[in-house]
Amino acid sequence: MERLTILRPDDWHLHVRDGEALPSVVPFSARRFGRAILMPNLKPPITTVDQALLYRERVLAAVPEGVQFEPLMTLYLTEQTSAAEVERAAVDPRVVAVKLYPAGATTNSEAGVHSLEPVYGVLEAMAEHGLPLLIHGEDTDPASDIFDREERFIEGTLVPLLRRLPTLKVVLEHITTATAVEFVGSTSKRVAATITAHHLLLNRNAIFEGGLRPHAYCLPVLKRERHRRALVEAATSGNPKFFLGTDSAPHPRDAKESACGCAGCFTAHAAIELYAEAFDQAGALDKLEGFASRFGPAFYGLDPNNTRVTLERSEWQVPASYPFGSGEVIPMRAGEVVSWRLTD
Ligand code: NCD
Ligand code: ZN
Repeated sequence: MERLTILRPDDWHLHVRDGEALPSVVPFSARRFGRAILMPNLKPPITTVDQALLYRERVLAAVPEGVQFEPLMTLYLTEQTSAAEVERAAVDPRVVAVKLYPAGATTNSEAGVHSLEPVYGVLEAMAEHGLPLLIHGEDTDPASDIFDREERFIEGTLVPLLRRLPTLKVVLEHITTATAVEFVGSTSKRVAATITAHHLLLNRNAIFEGGLRPHAYCLPVLKRERHRRALVEAATSGNPKFFLGTDSAPHPRDAKESACGCAGCFTAHAAIELYAEAFDQAGALDKLEGFASRFGPAFYGLDPNNTRVTLERSEWQVPASYPFGSGEVIPMRAGEVVSWRLTD
C-alpha cells in the first residue's frame, strides 16, 4: 500500500501547554486531527470548568484560520475537587473527562491525589454521570522500580478502584506493558486504553543509544522490547478498547537537556505519520483507521469525524528543532527521516 486514506483521526491524549507555547504546537495537531483531548496538567492545573473553558478559548485562538479543530477539555482531579464541579463538567459537552494524576507520578502532578480515599465521593458522582476518568497509571512509591510502576498501579490501585465503582468509565492512558494490554483486554467494555506512537516504535534501549538520550525520556518510561511488541499487537488487533493518544508532551530544549531533564516526547509534528510507520511495520495499515479514527469516538459516545486524511509512503526529514515560544523544542526523529507523509 503506497497511499492510505482514512477518516480524520483524533488524539485522545495531548499536551499543548499554554501561553506563548500554544501557537508553536497547536497547529501541528490541528493539521492532522479533528479533535484532541487536552491534558490539564498546567501550572497551576485546570481544576474547574470555568478554567477549562478559558483554556479552550486560548487553544482555539492558536488554531490556524480555516482549520477545523475541536479541543476537548479535561479537569485535573485534586483532593479538593467537588462533586458539584464534576456535575458541571458532566453537563458541558466541551469538557469530556477528569484526569487522575497520582501525586508525584509525572510532570506537574504535585497537585494530584495521594490516595483515592478522599476522592471516592467525586468518582461516584462521575460514575453516576457517565464522565470518564483518565488515569496516569503509575505507582508512586519511591521504592517501586520505575520499570514496574505501571504493573504495580494496576494491581494495587486500579483493580480495587474498578471493583469499588463497577460503572465508572476508565481510560488507562499511554499504556506501556504487556500486563496493561492483557488487563485492559480482559476487563469490561467500560475500560479502555490509549497507546502512544513512541511506545509503539521504541523500546527502552532508545534512552541509552550511544549515550544518554533525554528526548527519548517520557513517563511512563519506555519498556523492554517484549512490551513494545505487545503494544503493537494490541494497537493493530482491531480491538476497540485500544485507541490513539499521542501524549505528545513538548518541553523547552534546555528543560530536557539538563542534569534533571523533564519527561515527555514531542511527537505532534508527525503524529499520524509515526503511527502509520508502526502499523506499516506490523503489516497492519488496514487497522489504522479503527485505532486512529473510530474506536476513540465510540468510547466517548461521539461520532467519528466526517472528513478524511491521506497518507503516502514518502520519506521526509524532520527538522532538527521547531520554535517553541521564545525557545525551541526537539521533536521525535529530529534530523532523521519519517517514512510516511501527510498529503494536503
Ligand atoms: C507529560 C508532560 O510532560 O506533561 N510527560 C510525559 O512524559 N508523558 C505528562 C504525562 O503525561 O505523564
Ligand atoms: Zn500525558
